[in-house]
Amino acid sequence: MKRRWMIVMLAFVILTMLAACGQPETDKQNGSQTEFLAGETEKAEGDATDQQENTNTNTEQVQEVIIQDGFIHITGGTFQMGSPEDEAWRSDDETQHIVSVSDFFMSPYEVTQAEYETVTGNNPSNFSGKDLPVENVSWLDAATFCNAYSKQNGFTPVYSVEGESVSWDRSADGYRLPTEAEWEFACRAGTTTPFYMENSPSAEEANYYRHYPYMIEGNYFSQENLSVKPGEYRQTTVAVGSFSPNPFGLYDMHGNVSEWTWDIYGDYLEGEKSDPVGVDFGTRRVYRGGGWNDFAKNMRCAYRAMMDQDKGSFNIGIRLVRNAVYGSGNVAGQIQQGGNEESGSHILIAYFSWGGNTRVIAEEIEEQTGADLFEITLVKPYSDDYNTVLDEAQRDQNEQARPELSSHVENMEDYDVIILGYSNWWASIPMPIASFLEEYEFEGKTIIPFCSHGGGRFGQSLTAIAKLAPESKMGEALSIHYSGDSTLEDDISEWLRTNGIEQ
Ligand SMILES: Cc1cc2nc3c(=O)[nH]c(=O)nc-3n(C[C@H](O)[C@H](O)[C@H](O)COP(=O)(O)O)c2cc1C
Repeated sequence: MKRRWMIVMLAFVILTMLAACGQPETDKQNGSQTEFLAGETEKAEGDATDQQENTNTNTEQVQEVIIQDGFIHITGGTFQMGSPEDEAWRSDDETQHIVSVSDFFMSPYEVTQAEYETVTGNNPSNFSGKDLPVENVSWLDAATFCNAYSKQNGFTPVYSVEGESVSWDRSADGYRLPTEAEWEFACRAGTTTPFYMENSPSAEEANYYRHYPYMIEGNYFSQENLSVKPGEYRQTTVAVGSFSPNPFGLYDMHGNVSEWTWDIYGDYLEGEKSDPVGVDFGTRRVYRGGGWNDFAKNMRCAYRAMMDQDKGSFNIGIRLVRNAVYGSGNVAGQIQQGGNEESGSHILIAYFSWGGNTRVIAEEIEEQTGADLFEITLVKPYSDDYNTVLDEAQRDQNEQARPELSSHVENMEDYDVIILGYSNWWASIPMPIASFLEEYEFEGKTIIPFCSHGGGRFGQSLTAIAKLAPESKMGEALSIHYSGDSTLEDDISEWLRTNGIEQ
């Protein structure tokens, strides 16, 4: 039993979070992952933080870090969870509210592939390397891993897992996932800015889709006047702990992989809360922090992403915590599976396409399934000019606009499966897809997304869809680079099979 208290005083953890500021960017990205804005980064030099006001007071912060069995003791406290209304790129679901969290222990690192494989005997990761964070694990995998790791170390497992149903024994001493509140408290580490480093993270501070640092979008096409600069996009996870830690001594809280939390996604409960554990009922679990494939805006301390608990992604991994204060009772959030298990007989393929790529894919799906095809069109279409539509899309996304649709599905109640196609626009959905999702009732229906992209794959589009159609079930999604290549037919055929759709 590893219960020996090894309190190690690691004084003077001198943060070098801004050490990289001002270093010139040398890496230029090529290849398919970056084609969407190929050429646009060529002129960029310097770093995002070069010309931003530096309000950081933590550059040489001295912090006492207490470690027990390799985990950092996080001293609890009270903080504002969520983001202020004037925070750029915030979502409505980040309502600020006062939250208190008790002391807890948190691993300074994301769980590595070596650790995961040692415990479970398998490694589902998309990338390969023993020091890389494990990814492509579902929330259920993560909960199961917590229990197995607890047993291996002589702790009492925290979770009871029965199929899709998981309850959490708050008095158990084993490993568990952080609550959303614990995660955000730990990530902020006393800061109140969008990122704990208080500026847009540079590529030397976090592993993310660094072509798109925070606030670049607004002036992306005014290259002469950029106040934030693009930088290296690594297109992979990197060894955990490769960058400076946050003021609590935690590594990779922004970027590398997002991290599953315990909570079921829902609106924050009103009023001051102590050790909140999320809503009681819902359809998806929250993950936090952003990953190697996310734009900076989706790595913010307050940004909330979510996914079905039985799905994984190359962008999501695990960070473990343990109790420092023992609670009591069980928490048993209920996942309500939307969708119709008998689905499959009435399928609609609905898509929005600006440049035609999504249409090509939609037509191939139509060819293989014989399902009805529906194009989402606008009363006021976007400009035909590429640079102009980039700005228009940006504006609409920033304003959360709902462009008026000129086409409507008259018999939506007849369909139980909607295969939904769209292009990745600024790491999310084009706003016409939001208009479409808000026009109809999707409770009891299954939405199977497919996304045409220029390198960013889904971005955060699946979270955006889940937020707009929370009662729906989401099928296995497919991302296709532009309009695909010679394997398109086979790729679609395999994907349809995965979703149980007859061809
Ligand atoms: C306004 C706009 C924003 C885009 N943003 C992204 C992005 O963030 N990531 C990405 O990988 N591709 C992005 N792209 C590229 C498109 O996703 C890609 O070209 C897609 O194939 C377009 O599909 P369509 O021809 O059906 O419109 C963007 C394209 C446009 C026009």
